Amino acid sequence: MAATDLERFSNEEKRSLSLGGHVGFDSLPDQLVSKSVTQGFSFNILCVGETGIGKSTLMNTLFNTTFETEEASHYESAVRLRPRTYDLQESNVHLKLTIVDAVGFGDQINKDESYRPIVEYIDTQFENYLQEELKIRRSLFNYHDTRIHVCLYFITPTGHSLKSLDLVTMKKLDSKVNIIPIIAKADTISKSELHKFKIKIMSELVSNGVQIYQFPTDDEAVAEINSVMNAHLPFAVVGSTEEVKVGNKLVRARQYPWGVVQVENESHCDFVKLREMLIRVNMEDLREQTHTRHYELYRRCKLEEMGFKDTDPDNQPFSLQETYETKRKEFLGELQRKEEEMRQMFVNKVKETEAELKEKERELHEKFEHLKRIHQEEKRKVEEKRRELEEEMNMFNRRKVAVETLQSQSLQATSQQPLKKDKDKKNFFSLPSAYSITTGRYVN
Ligand code: GTP
Ligand code: MG
Repeated sequence: MAATDLERFSNEEKRSLSLGGHVGFDSLPDQLVSKSVTQGFSFNILCVGETGIGKSTLMNTLFNTTFETEEASHYESAVRLRPRTYDLQESNVHLKLTIVDAVGFGDQINKDESYRPIVEYIDTQFENYLQEELKIRRSLFNYHDTRIHVCLYFITPTGHSLKSLDLVTMKKLDSKVNIIPIIAKADTISKSELHKFKIKIMSELVSNGVQIYQFPTDDEAVAEINSVMNAHLPFAVVGSTEEVKVGNKLVRARQYPWGVVQVENESHCDFVKLREMLIRVNMEDLREQTHTRHYELYRRCKLEEMGFKDTDPDNQPFSLQETYETKRKEFLGELQRKEEEMRQMFVNKVKETEAELKEKERELHEKFEHLKRIHQEEKRKVEEKRRELEEEMNMFNRRKVAVETLQSQSLQATSQQPLKKDKDKKNFFSLPSAYSITTGRYVN
């Protein structure tokens, strides 16, 4: 088909035709429902709130069951994420529910990094899903999707305002997950205070640019109830698994000396509104938003980071093959550059070592020359001394000979002239009798 024919064909208006009888594709929605029911659903809730704020109690109350609970200690050195998965069944619908607790949240003295493990956990679940999508053999059909569909953010019922930890954490999470803020233990705050508290929280969220999940109003069937509920945010909830007799009915409530707070009584708290919005009306929208908004954002950033683009600089579609080739070339270039860098580093190191060795050799040589000079000087001095000594010895020998000659002459004369004896004796004894090496002189 020529290009112009193709264009004409695609631009042609679609014509509506009526069917002559029942064909059967009106069963498509039923087929879809049936398939989904067989497949089962997964829903993952992240509970963020300080230790003991009532997270586990609320989960038990919401799903009308008793999940495993383990009291967290207040001495965790950092926030840690603890996921627990349960298989629930209602009628013939199977729900794989994962509840993730941010254990130790708000317990550290320095809370600067409290949000980080939560963000990392959410990103890891996105990353796992992306890796599965990028596999050659994907099995998304039976993949256990652990991406967080909703974050219930438990606000402490102080009646004042949000803490900076709440604002920072919600701000860090709002582009990654659907946040539903709830005021926990709402039975501990009076009705008028609660009203003011809600207004304060919403205005603080708006002024700090924190995007919370808005119940969708584009589907006519739920638009009205959702827009009414949006105005009730944040929900003020009370949790209890205790059953109390009110009239002749057993209801879940918290009993106090002055009265009973009924969890499912809408004039007591917003628990019913939360359950309605979270489970009965918007569970599918939360799942969808997670996939189409939050996961999409993560996927787009990740692929862009890896160098993938939709269009090239000329606005032409970018092919995966081209991107791969460009990336490969970039990678090889980088590898070569690194290799060259390493080689240069090695050469420099060898040169440095060589220079050091040369310097050491020169120093040794200088030392040797110096010692040699000292040695020669010493040798010269010793030589001189030896010469002096020899001269002294010669002199001594000469004098000795002279003395001996004199002695023999005087002996001869004595034998001839006995009177001269005393005088010669005196001369004989005045001759030097020893030579001192230390002073270099003859001593008597
Ligand atoms: P950790 O998992 O240890 O962080 O605690 P948690 O947030 O799961 O709190 P948990 O549900 O264990 O409740 C802690 C205490 O608060 C229990 O004594 C609950 O009975 C009580 N509690 C729970 N919900 C409410 C509530 O809505 N109002 C009041 N007044 N107390 C509540
Ligand atoms: Mg708990």
